Amino acid sequence: MSTLSQDELKTLVGQAALKYVVPGEILGVGTGSTVNKFIDALASIKDQITGAVSSSLASTQRLQALGIKVFDCNEVTELAVYIDGADEIDHQGNMIKGGGAALTREKIVAAQSRQFVCIADASKLVQCLGKFPLPVEVIPMAIQRVTRQFKAMGAIAVLRQKDGQPVLTDNGQQILDVSGLQITDPLAFESQVSQWPGVVTIGVFAYQKAQVCLLATADGVKTLRFQG
Ligand code: 5RP
Repeated sequence: MSTLSQDELKTLVGQAALKYVVPGEILGVGTGSTVNKFIDALASIKDQITGAVSSSLASTQRLQALGIKVFDCNEVTELAVYIDGADEIDHQGNMIKGGGAALTREKIVAAQSRQFVCIADASKLVQCLGKFPLPVEVIPMAIQRVTRQFKAMGAIAVLRQKDGQPVLTDNGQQILDVSGLQITDPLAFESQVSQWPGVVTIGVFAYQKAQVCLLATADGVKTLRFQG
């Protein structure tokens, strides 16, 4: 039994994702510590791609520091592949995302991509989404109202804070982290909550689910493929 650390598993899966990069194309790049490993690996083949569309200011900076050109999403009609991490992924490819507060831009880039390749370690694979507190990006004036709506469904929404101040997303909005959920029908749940006034983006990715998941395990990287 191998004893790879979480960090080593992330490095492994970041490198494994290189084979999904399409030469000559612009690549969609997500956000987070696993994606950071992917970006580091991407440096070795950066001359093979035209550039990237990034889902956060943090990833943009990392890509540019390596000399990879970052395009605005509006400059690109469609991307062949989007590579990003997840906080949870189920056996159908539905995900919870937004632990790094980049969920809105992640959903936009994912929607613009033909294939979503999720890179994760085995701890992220779940039977049912909801153990990881669900990130929801909300316009500040609706924070209390949306908090009450989650309470009415038996869940607890907590404003994400850092150093006593609300965390602001790259879009200048705030994040609620919602615990106590069991999301048995991700598509229906995403549809419902996305319509609440003041909700910018919910971190359930069912409409923009993964087609492929590269899962780093103690026995190596496994490839899961999903229908739809
Ligand atoms: C950022 C995300 C990340 O993909 C997710 O939080 C996983 O991050 P990590 O690879 O650091 O575990 O959705 O908004």
